[in-house]
Amino acid sequence: MAILVTGGAGFIGSHTCVELLNAGYDIVVVDNYYNSSPKSLDRVRELTGKDFKQYECDIRDSEGMDKIFKENKIDAVIHFAGLKAVGESCRKPMEYYDNNIGGTVKLCQVMRDNGCKNIVFSSSATVYGMNNVSPLKETMKAGGTTNPYGTTKYMIEIILEDICKADEEWNATLLRYFNPIGAHKSGRIGENPNGIPNNLMPYITQVAIGRLPCLSVFGNDYDTPDGTGVRDYIHVVDLADGHVKAVKNILEGKKGVQIFNLGTGKGYSVLDIINGFEKATGVKINYKIVDRRPGDIATCYSDPSKAKEVLGWEAKRDIEEMCEDSWRWQSQNPNGFED
Ligand code: NAD
Ligand code: WQD
Repeated sequence: MAILVTGGAGFIGSHTCVELLNAGYDIVVVDNYYNSSPKSLDRVRELTGKDFKQYECDIRDSEGMDKIFKENKIDAVIHFAGLKAVGESCRKPMEYYDNNIGGTVKLCQVMRDNGCKNIVFSSSATVYGMNNVSPLKETMKAGGTTNPYGTTKYMIEIILEDICKADEEWNATLLRYFNPIGAHKSGRIGENPNGIPNNLMPYITQVAIGRLPCLSVFGNDYDTPDGTGVRDYIHVVDLADGHVKAVKNILEGKKGVQIFNLGTGKGYSVLDIINGFEKATGVKINYKIVDRRPGDIATCYSDPSKAKEVLGWEAKRDIEEMCEDSWRWQSQNPNGFED
C-alpha cells in the first residue's frame, strides 16, 4: 500500500512527503522536475531516514504513468503536479490548460484503468474568484476566476466532481490552499522559485539575502487597515499535515467529493509581513510602494472551520515562525538546491 505523490519534488510536495513518511505511509513520487530539483527528494530521505521510489515522468505520459501503477500498489494519489505562475498563465494559457487540465484528466484515466479511485487535489483559494467576501467558506459559489491558472484549478474541481458523480467508487478531496510560506525547520527543504519570484515571501527573502535590490509593494490604497493587500498566510508544514489528514480520511472510507479550505483564518497585510519578517529575523527589507498589480484583490482569508470539524486539522504555526523558517531556508541555501 502506497500513496503516489505527483509533483512531490516541489515546494508543497516535498514537505508533504516528509509528513507522510513521518506518519508511517509508504510513498512513491513522480515528477518531471520542470520546476524542481530531484535533490529535494534526497533531502526528504535525509530528514526522515526513510527511502522511497521516485520516477522522472510527466503526468501526461500515460504509458510511463501506467508503468508506475503496474510496478507499485497505489491506494491513493496526492496530486500536486502542475504549473502555478499566475502571470505566466496569462501569456501561455494553452500550456496551462494542457499541463494542468490535460495532465489531470490523463492521470485520472490511468488511475481508473489501474483500479485506484482516490485522489487528493491541490486546489487554491483562487477558485473563490473576485466576487466572494472573506472569510471564504467552502459553501460559497466558486468561479469568477481572474486568470488562466485560476481557471484551470476551478475546471479541475468540476472535472473531479463529474468523475465522482459518474462513478461512486471515486473519492476526490479538493484542498483549497491559501498562501503557503515557511519551510521545514531544518532549513533543508523550501521554496525555490525559478527566476524572479512572483509571490511575496520568496521576494522578501531574496531582497533580504541581497539577490534582489528592493521589494515593490503593489498598492497601498486598498480598503484594508493599512491600505496594502491582506492574505491568509499558512505555514507549509501545517499545509503538509492537512494532506496527511485528508489522505487518512479518504482511505478510511467512501466519501465522494469533499472540499476543504486550508488556511489559518487570519489575514495579514503586506506591511504586516514585512514588519513580521524584520522582527523575526533582524534583517531590514528595502521596499517601495508602487501601483496595484492587475488582478489582485484587497482581502482574501479563509474560514478554516470545516477542516477542523471533519479532518481534525488546524494550522498551528504563527507568522513569526513562518518568517523565521522562510529565512532559515533562504539564508542556508542562497541558491536553492544548487548550494
Ligand atoms: P511547485 O512548482 O514547487 O511544485 C509542482 C511540482 O510539479 C514541481 O516539482 C514540478 O516540476 C512538477 N510538475 C509540473 N508539471 C508536471 C507534469 N506535467 N508532470 C510531472 N510533474 C510536473 O509548486 P507548489 O507551490 O509546490 O504547488 C503544488 C501544487 O499546489 C500546484 O498544483 C499548485 O498549483 C498548487 N497550489 C500552490 C499554491 C502556492 O502558492 N504555492 C497555492 C495554491 C495551490
Ligand atoms: C500576496 C500579497 C500582493 C508580491 C497567488 C496566487 C494564488 C496562490 C497563491 C496558487 C498580495 C502582494 C506580492 C510582491 C507585493 N497560488 N505582493 N509585492 O496573489 O495572494 O496569490 O499565490 O494557487 O492563486 O494568485 O500571492 O504572494 O503573489 O501576493 O506587494 O512582489 O502580496 O499584491 O497582496 P496572491 P502573492
